[in-house]
Amino acid sequence: MVLKIELLAKGRHLRSQFHCGKESLDRYIRQQASQDLKRRVATVFVLIDAPDSNILAYYTLSSYTVDIGVLNDDFAKHLPRYPRLPTTLLGRLAVDNSAKGKGFGELMLVDALKKSLEVSRQIASLAVIAEALDEEALGFYLKYGFLQFQQDPMKLYLPMQSIAELF
Ligand SMILES: CC(C)(COP(=O)(O)OP(=O)(O)OC[C@H]1O[C@@H](n2cnc3c(N)ncnc32)[C@H](O)[C@@H]1OP(=O)(O)O)[C@@H](O)C(=O)NCCC(=O)NCCS
Repeated sequence: MVLKIELLAKGRHLRSQFHCGKESLDRYIRQQASQDLKRRVATVFVLIDAPDSNILAYYTLSSYTVDIGVLNDDFAKHLPRYPRLPTTLLGRLAVDNSAKGKGFGELMLVDALKKSLEVSRQIASLAVIAEALDEEALGFYLKYGFLQFQQDPMKLYLPMQSIAELF
């Protein structure tokens, strides 16, 4: 068995058994993810233990913009006053209940950050944005150094410069 992170492929990856404990994230991978991928709204990466095709974890990435006002003053003071600034959205990240607590959440997060950094060298992005569904998710992102938006503490960002220093 070999852990692999792959772009979601309909027919190759088994989505129906995925349960992470958050109904909206389960529904998304079962019903919406393929459509988003096809329509280029989001890329969806899944973790499998090949040759098993059950999805153990997934995350999504998209281009995104933020208003400078959501960033903390220390970070924002070095940025130009453009109305919208380019970022990368880590829209969803979830681990199947059967696979939690084994480091797969971290593995997927690190993979998403690495991909975001690589792409940002070609198409600029100043931070990765994440949206926490609840306090549990918030705790996870805070552990990895994400900072909360000034007016919306359930939205977080990790400056691309911090990600570059990580790798
Ligand atoms: C949050 C989630 C992604 C974590 O995945 P996981 O595979 O269980 O986590 P890992 O095993 O990779 O944990 C890595 C580290 O994060 C810590 N951690 C895990 N969940 C945490 C949480 N909610 N708060 C704080 N730390 C957390 C672990 O203790 C571990 O730390 P350690 O290495 O110091 O022991 C997973 O529980 C999940 O899918 N939850 C439901 C969906 C969700 O809330 N998604 C997130 C935002 S949309």
